[in-house]
Order: sequence, then structure tokens, then C-alpha cells
Amino acid sequence: MCGIVGYIGKGQAKPILLQGLKHLEYRGYDSAGIAVWGKNGLQILKTHGRVEDLSQQASTWEGEGNLGIGHTRWATHGKPSKKNAHPHISADGQVILTHNGILENYLQVKQTLQLEGWSFSSDTDTEVIANWLAKLFQLHNQDPIATLTDFLGQAQGSFALAILFRNFPNRLFALRKESPLVVGIGEGENFLASDLPPLLLHTRRVYYMENGEIACLQADKVAFYSDKGELLSKKAEEISWQTEKMDKGKYPHFMLKEIHEQPEAVARTLRYLREGGMDCAKHWLKNVEQLTIIGCGSSYHVGIALQYAIERLCQLPVRVELASEFRYREIPMQGLVVAISQSGETADTLAALRKAKKGGCATLAIVNVVGSAIAREADCALYTQAGMEIAVATTKAYLTQLITGYYLAVQLAVERGSIDVFQARCLLADLLDLPEKIKEILRQKEAIHRLAKRWKDMQYCFFIGRGMDYAVSMEGSLKLKEISYIPAEAYAAGELKHGAISLIEPGTLVCCVCTQEGVFDKMRSNMQEVQSRGGELLTISIPGGVACDICLPKTEEMFMASLSVIPLQLFAYFVSVERGEDVDKPLNLAKSVTVE
Ligand code: AGP
Repeated sequence: MCGIVGYIGKGQAKPILLQGLKHLEYRGYDSAGIAVWGKNGLQILKTHGRVEDLSQQASTWEGEGNLGIGHTRWATHGKPSKKNAHPHISADGQVILTHNGILENYLQVKQTLQLEGWSFSSDTDTEVIANWLAKLFQLHNQDPIATLTDFLGQAQGSFALAILFRNFPNRLFALRKESPLVVGIGEGENFLASDLPPLLLHTRRVYYMENGEIACLQADKVAFYSDKGELLSKKAEEISWQTEKMDKGKYPHFMLKEIHEQPEAVARTLRYLREGGMDCAKHWLKNVEQLTIIGCGSSYHVGIALQYAIERLCQLPVRVELASEFRYREIPMQGLVVAISQSGETADTLAALRKAKKGGCATLAIVNVVGSAIAREADCALYTQAGMEIAVATTKAYLTQLITGYYLAVQLAVERGSIDVFQARCLLADLLDLPEKIKEILRQKEAIHRLAKRWKDMQYCFFIGRGMDYAVSMEGSLKLKEISYIPAEAYAAGELKHGAISLIEPGTLVCCVCTQEGVFDKMRSNMQEVQSRGGELLTISIPGGVACDICLPKTEEMFMASLSVIPLQLFAYFVSVERGEDVDKPLNLAKSVTVE
């Protein structure tokens, strides 16, 4: 979602802001802009388009100076356009800001401001914030901290702001309520960003801003304030882990690169878990009587796959909930809640986790981004070692979440006594064999590409499977629709005849995932039903399963999802490529969904 960058210091702000925005592109956006303050006064440049366009325009633009803010916008209030792109400036010219999130009471505030004579030139809630802050700034005798604390006390919703006050030309202010913001500390210069990648180009010393905090950045110092305006003493963190370069290497797209990184990502995740990465969870695995898994999108799909594995392995009923639903459900809270999230910032998952904590549940997080809000707020964070994932359509993060969940399931089963140590060792050996098996599937890439060429013009399709295969079908259908825009629906195979079969007509593609031995016969019958209506099959199975288009190597049945998902990722990827879509940046989607 929206990305914020800010800079103050000895260097030129323009190139630093533009480079920073480039490193936030992966979050998803539709327009971009920067504001730079210097010898030519305050200059604002915006575009309805890519950061590349903005950089091109900036090469002949007069914005020069050592202070500035920048933004990639993912439209919420007001359609994507230059007019609605950030930064926004208040009607009196005092406040210039960029914003990530939603001001929920914007309508009511806007009406009041309009009655008071404040004018608006965009359709955004951000301009409402700019005018509101300008009004409060006047009210508080131009005291920025008093202005921002007053705003925090009244503003509803979740947001992060980077703010310039015209009367404070040597200061950059920031404010966080829910949406993430990180401050980077340099030598004679300081930085601000929604996420680490832009900061890591310059420094490894950072401050994660907490909820309700205000920051005031100057070239040589940073001060933090509470929502009451008290000066805070915060500890900077040193980013010690290795960060990857954000380039595609030999691959045409990040998604394809990330698909190919999976064998290594799985091996790394297992190494991390075996070397103590799960130690903090051990305490919470004792006496678990109720287990709930929460997540959104693909992370939710991981939860569904884990449900089958944990129930079978641990003899423990597992509930899996969409975080966006769970957060508003009125249900008794008990037991252990596992939140799954790649970004660790998904607003719904974070809110659901907080609800669980408030309700007295123990909480574990399976997260990829180190230091993210979900990782910090859960009782224990298990870090997937996927490395940075850039493509909006998740692949290696999904898979490493699954592997972490399997490992957790084995530990829990030992703890509960549903398996013994020897059985646990055998299961671990199966997990350790997965990277080689994934490589084997990747070698079938060309066959999958041919299938994608054949099906690229389909109008819609179905994915069916039973048990664990149904969970993978859900992920396969999401992958296809998010990057190729083809309507795709996942069905538990047995459900097809309860409705969706009416949509099967001659030529309709039905992708069948079939890896669970106990239901091979049932799947064969379902496939017959499809063929009898003229539907066409694309089958993914194992030797001894159903006749397959893509044949997978075998592993322990409970772990098959980690293999069967690979051809579905590749299929979605190649269909998208064959249709000429922008694979890594699908329309309307954001990598990190920080609003509700
Ligand atoms: C999957 O390809 C998605 N882009 C999306 O569904 C994603 O999994 C979801 O938004 C959850 O994100 P998270 O894992 O960062 O919480």
C-alpha cells in the first residue's frame, strides 16, 4: 500500500527520495510524488504513473534542497490521478504532507473545515488532514508537537504521516497510528520510510516508531514524543541480518526469481528452525487445548493447509479464521492463536492478533519481515527465512510459512504425545528432503509453460481438490486471478455438484490437485463428472494417483501441499506472461495491506 519516504540532511533530497520510492514500489501503488524544500522554496512534483515517470520528470525539475518527503499512493479516497497524488498542501500553504492509511472521520472533519472556509482541490482524506493540521497549527500558536498530539487525540482510523511545516524549514515531522514508519539514522542526515528497503541503502541504525508516537527529525538529531507530547527515550536498533539486492538477476520477473528461490528458502527456514528459531514457541506449546490460526489471502490458505496437517498429526481440532472476520466476531477467546503474515503489517491480521491477546490468548506469529508489528506484538515470532519478497503474488513466503507450520505441527505433536521422537525424526527427514523435490518440479517448467500457452485465453476456470489438496487449490486459484485477471474459483471437489457444476460447459478448464491417497477414487469420480459435461482437466498428482499432466515426486502425504503448490505458481505465472500482464505489479493490489 502507500509508501512514505522522507529525508533531511547534508545531501540532495531529490535523488534520495526517488531512489527510496523505487524501493517501495513493491508495496503496490498507482501514482507518486515528491516535495523538496530548498533554495527554490517548496517544490512539489506528482505523477499519475510509475516512479520511473516521476524520475524522468524530475530530471528537468527545479526542486532542489536538503529536506523533502515522497510518496507512492494506493488509492483509497479519490481515484488514482495526479490531482489526488501526494504530497498534499493545506489551503494556507503551511502544512505539506504524505499519508499512508485512512482517516475514518474525514467526511465529518471536511464538512466542518469547509464551513470554516478551508478549500480543497483533491478528493482525498489526506488533504483533509493537511487542512485540519493547518487549522490546529494556528490554534496551538504554531507549535508542531501540540498540533500533532491534538490531531492524534481526535483523528480516527489508521495512518502514518510525513509532515513539513512551512515555518519549520529545518525539521521533518512524522506520526504513526497503526500504519508502519521507520526512522533511519545517518551521519549528518536522517531518513524516514514506511519500510526498511529505502533506509538500508543508507544506514543500518533504525528506530521503529510505535503506535501514537511522533518524531521530529533534524539533520543531526531525532527526537520522539508520546501522544501526550512527552519527550521519549527510545533505543535505536541495529539491522544485523543480510539484506538482498532488489534486482531480478537473470529472471524477467521477481515472481519467477522468487519461485526459483524456493528450494534455498525452504532449506534456510528449516536450518533456522533447527538451530533454535522455534525455541521461544516451546513454552506456548505446552497444554494447548484450542488452536486458532488467523491470516489473510495466501497466509490464510497456509492456515487451511496446516489445519489438515495439525489435526491429523496432533489429534487437536484447529480453527482457521480470516483475520478480517475474526477481528469482528463475538466468540469466546481461548488457547493459542497463530497469526500468519508475510509482511507482518497486514492491518486485519494485526487487529485480530490484538483482539486475541486482549482476550487472554497466547499468541505466536509466523512472519517473514523481521521487526514488523505482528512479529513484535506476538508473544513469540517464528521468522520464515524467505528473504525479501518483492512480487505482489506471494510464492516463497507462502511456502516457507507452510514449512514453518509443519515444523510447528511436529513439535506440537511431540509435546502432546501424539507422535514419538522417532516418528518426529522421520517427519523431519521428509521435510529436509523437500528442497531437492522442489527442484525436481521446477525442472518441469517448460511443460507447465506449454499448458499455460494452451489455456491463456480461457474465460474462467476451477481448481478442485480434497482435504489438503483443496487448501492448495485455494492458493492456485488466488495466484491465477491476482496476476492474470481470469476469474478462478477453488472448490472442495465434493462440493462441485452442489452448485458450481452448472458452470461447467464444453471447454471449461478444471485444475485437479490429487495427492491424497485416501480420496483418489473420489477424485476420479469428480473428474468423470467434469468430463461428462465437456469440461477439460489439468491434473497434478503423484505416481500411483490419477493420470497426471504434472507428476509430483512423493513425500509424506501431510506435506504434499509444499510440492503441489509449485506447478500452480508456475502455471499462474506463465498464463500472466502469455497474456502480456505486468506480473509483479498486478492492478489494484498491494504487497502490504496496511488499511482495512
Ligand atoms: C497473495 O499472493 C497476496 N498478494 C495476498 O493475498 C497476501 O497473502 C495477503 O494480503 C496477506 O499478506 P500478509 O501475508 O503480508 O499478511
